[in-house]
Parts: sequence; C-alpha cells; structure tokens
Amino acid sequence: MVNRIFLLLLVLISVCGEETGMINAGKAADIDYSDIAGEAERHKNDILKFLNQTRVQEKYKTMYKCLLSKLLGSTRRIVSGRNTSIAAVPWQVSLREKTYPICGGSVITDLWLLTAAHCLLRARSSELTVRLASSWKTHGGEMYDVKECFVHPRYVSKTKVNDVGLVRLYTPLRFTEKVLPIKLVARESRLLADVPAIVSGWGKLQEGGPSATYLQSSTIKTVAMKLCKRTGLDRNAIDPPSMFCAGSFTQPSPDACQGDSGGPIVYDGVLIGVVSWGLGCARGNFPGVYTRLSHPVIWDWVNGYISKKEDS
Ligand code: ARG
Repeated sequence: MVNRIFLLLLVLISVCGEETGMINAGKAADIDYSDIAGEAERHKNDILKFLNQTRVQEKYKTMYKCLLSKLLGSTRRIVSGRNTSIAAVPWQVSLREKTYPICGGSVITDLWLLTAAHCLLRARSSELTVRLASSWKTHGGEMYDVKECFVHPRYVSKTKVNDVGLVRLYTPLRFTEKVLPIKLVARESRLLADVPAIVSGWGKLQEGGPSATYLQSSTIKTVAMKLCKRTGLDRNAIDPPSMFCAGSFTQPSPDACQGDSGGPIVYDGVLIGVVSWGLGCARGNFPGVYTRLSHPVIWDWVNGYISKKEDS
C-alpha cells in the first residue's frame, strides 16, 4: 500500500514538472509557473517571441497536462468543473463593469487581454476594470483600469460570428506565477476533434443557478463540426470558420455557462478559443460554442494589435 502511494506520487510529480522532490504529507506537486514568470517578466519587451520559444511552450504543455490529469475524472461542478487555483491558469482574468463581474478574458501580452466581442458591447471602456491574480471572484489579486476596447470589425451580434474583442490596459502588467500571458494558437492550425481542452471561469455552476465564487475549470472535448451541426440547434447557427464546438452528449456534460463568456479554452498549452455562446448550459444535447482563434480573419486582427510596438 505504502509502495503504491509512493509510486503514485512519483508519477504525479513527474507529470507536474520539476518540483522540490520533497513529498509533503501526500499532497501532489502543484502546478507551478514561477520560473517561467520570472523569465517572462525579463522578456516583457518581446513577449510574443518569448512565448514562441519551444522550451517555453514545453513548459506550458507540461503544466497543461498536469492540470488535465487533475481534472480528468472530476464529476463535480463552470458546470461539472472543479475548484482551480489561479496559479494553474494564470492567464485567466475577470472582466467587470465597475465592480460587477460580467465576463472572463485571457492575458495575451503585458498590455492586452482577449475576450469576446459581446462582452464589450454593453459597457463603456471607462467603466470596465479587470481583476487578475486571484482565484476568488470578489476579492484578492489586483485590479486594473481599462484604457480602450476594440471589437472585431466583422463581429455580427445577431449570429455571434467573429466573437472576439481586445482590451488594452493603461499600465503594463507585472508577470508573476499568478499573472502570465498565454500563446495564441497558430494561424490556420487545424483543431482536432475529440481532444480534451480546458475551459475556466467564474460563470454559473448550472443553467439558471448561482455563479462560482472560486475559479472553476473543466476538461471539455472538442466536437467534430459535422456532429455539432447535427445537434438540436438550427445548423445554420454555426459558422465553422469562426466557431468550433466543445462539450459532450452524455450527462453530466461539462460546459461553460453564463458569466464564462470571453474566457479561455486551452488545448496543449495554447489558447485555441474564447467562450462565446450555447443553448442553455450542460444540457447534454448541445455542446458549447467557442470563437475559433486560428481563423485568419480573427487571428490577423488580434495579431495586428498585439504585435504593434507601442511608442507611447
Ligand atoms: N454567452 C454566455 C456568457 O455571456 C456564455 C455562454 C456559454 N454557454 C455554454 N453553454 N457554453 O457568459
């Protein structure tokens, strides 16, 4: 028995990256981005290039697999998610109107956050703030003011085509183990069907229910477009170039829900999508719909802003 536990710990430690090697009271090694954070802070002026390094991507992949292994088999509550420390998804932000949380978002550089277009249409930028570095929705971490917001010029609110927006902060972020950017998926890269991705946020724990006070995350499988189009919903509602589906057709089906919008969905350590819409939540007959970030119309627009060198 003791041997088995020891073996299990060894496996967990090796999956979850270089840890201290000390086995403390049966606790598995935590997801730890602190070494990357220090480097990211030093390479802030060329953060996109930093994120592109193979070595850095390997680290993100390892940490991703670690979180995945912790989430697999979870049946608890996003919907059916698990309490997740911000240190495991340090790019996650909470977007607020004044102090009221409205949406999620992701850190993509020291100045830019990515969210959904539909999150930015109801509020003025002067009324938007973001909370970072906290696992709690209502306290801790740091608050930042928003300088400007941009909605994709080809976003269509009726259909949610190209549901993506950018938020620019006044002051650059300081990267720490709890505040880190995530790399965008490659332009035009093909998303595999039936692979596990991770979605996170403080949205509702079930359709019509209360929202989370502690950050939730869940693994959620990408759904083949053909299959997604065949589900209950009007098949024309889905625009394959700018959207993809993820979820499951069995109960309980993990899903994003109201309040998770704008937040990240990550696969293999890169940001592949933005929580966009769904039909209710976790109904089991319709998956969630996400903005496809690899789509050139979306990717080019996002990269145009974030790769611009700031002179002011
Ligand atoms: N539009 C929702 C929001 O504003 C997100 C809905 C996602 N729904 C889903 N079932 N995956 O928060």
